[in-house]
Amino acid sequence: MLSRRIKDKLQHIATPFYLYDMELLRATLEIVNEESTRYGYKVHYALKANFDKRIFETVRGFGMGVDCVSGNEVKYAVESGFPASSVVYAGVGKSDDEIRYGIEQGIFAFNCESRQELEVINGIAAEMGKIANVALRINPDVDPQTHKNISTGHGDSKFGISYKEVEEVAAKLPELKNINITGLHFHIGSQITSMEPFENLCKRVNMLYGWFTERGFTLTHLNVGGGLGINYENPEAQPIPDFKTYFAVFAEHLDIDPAIEVHFELGRSLVGQCGELITKVLYNKVTAAGSNVAIVDASMTELIRPALYQAHHAIENLNRNDEEGVYTIAGTVCESSDIFAKGITLPAPQRGDLLTLKTAGAYGSAMASRYNMHELPTSVYSDDL
Ligand code: LLP
Repeated sequence: MLSRRIKDKLQHIATPFYLYDMELLRATLEIVNEESTRYGYKVHYALKANFDKRIFETVRGFGMGVDCVSGNEVKYAVESGFPASSVVYAGVGKSDDEIRYGIEQGIFAFNCESRQELEVINGIAAEMGKIANVALRINPDVDPQTHKNISTGHGDSKFGISYKEVEEVAAKLPELKNINITGLHFHIGSQITSMEPFENLCKRVNMLYGWFTERGFTLTHLNVGGGLGINYENPEAQPIPDFKTYFAVFAEHLDIDPAIEVHFELGRSLVGQCGELITKVLYNKVTAAGSNVAIVDASMTELIRPALYQAHHAIENLNRNDEEGVYTIAGTVCESSDIFAKGITLPAPQRGDLLTLKTAGAYGSAMASRYNMHELPTSVYSDDL
């Protein structure tokens, strides 16, 4: 863990801040490229996981595409030098202006999430005298076996076109002259740690791919989304996720024409382990119920995952190795859910100690807010230390 190795250098940096291990990020991206190109797979970075400029530039250096979920993300990707032809754009609620911008830029594909959206994209493209490339995001009703708030592919989710509507949508497509259906898109959820949901996804993809090709659609790509989970419990045991097994599952279970490109949208697995949130202990107290509480200077405004999903981030005291106690680590915000961890064992956090919350590179700084008028968190990069 980077913070432990360089803890002396961290003592005088204003807290809280995100610390990024750029070497680990580069090593992760290198392995992703190695394992994906083995099968000719294309990887798009899911920008929502972390839009920090230095992180994004590093990803660009590895030649990946981008997966966007808003017009601003598409704009940021294009303005950061990613070719528009490497940009995919999903999202259940694309506005007319966002759609217009994507068409103007000539993005690789809109991952289209409803029948009505298809009609709207078609209408806007017609007005512009253009043809928009579209992949149908189909909700495959696959259980990702993850937290309910980060499941997207089950039957009652707001995402994608229901598999029950596929036939009706396909029948309508020939009328939509200004869209070109180039592919199918799926994303079943996030933080998926078993390969079984991905195998089940492949079975659905095979079925739908077959269904569309039998009906004369010429698909050029299939996008299977992201979702590969990472080790939050013991990050040091697996700083780089097992991309080899992950891509091999798709290679083994997808049964499609080899000329069809397979695309992925990975977020968490690329950037999760390279980030830590460093925070300083402000106060100690004991509750009437007898819990030892350490109040730190970060809060859910820097890292909302524990409050929102009861997510676990391993915490370490960077200033001590001595006797351990049982503590609740709480943030500064006026919300009872602003707790990073309850009942964890660590060397007694004392005022001034630095704590690290590990595995915070994905959906950490990207989900920061200014609640309680907090400042947005700053970033420190290993390359600068
Ligand atoms: N593609 C689509 C269409 C997505 O919706 C997402 C994530 C991804 C790709 C990237 O998934 P990943 O590889 O990162 O699992 N804030 C939550 C996670 C929300 C994920 C949203 N969609 C968290 O902190 O756990």
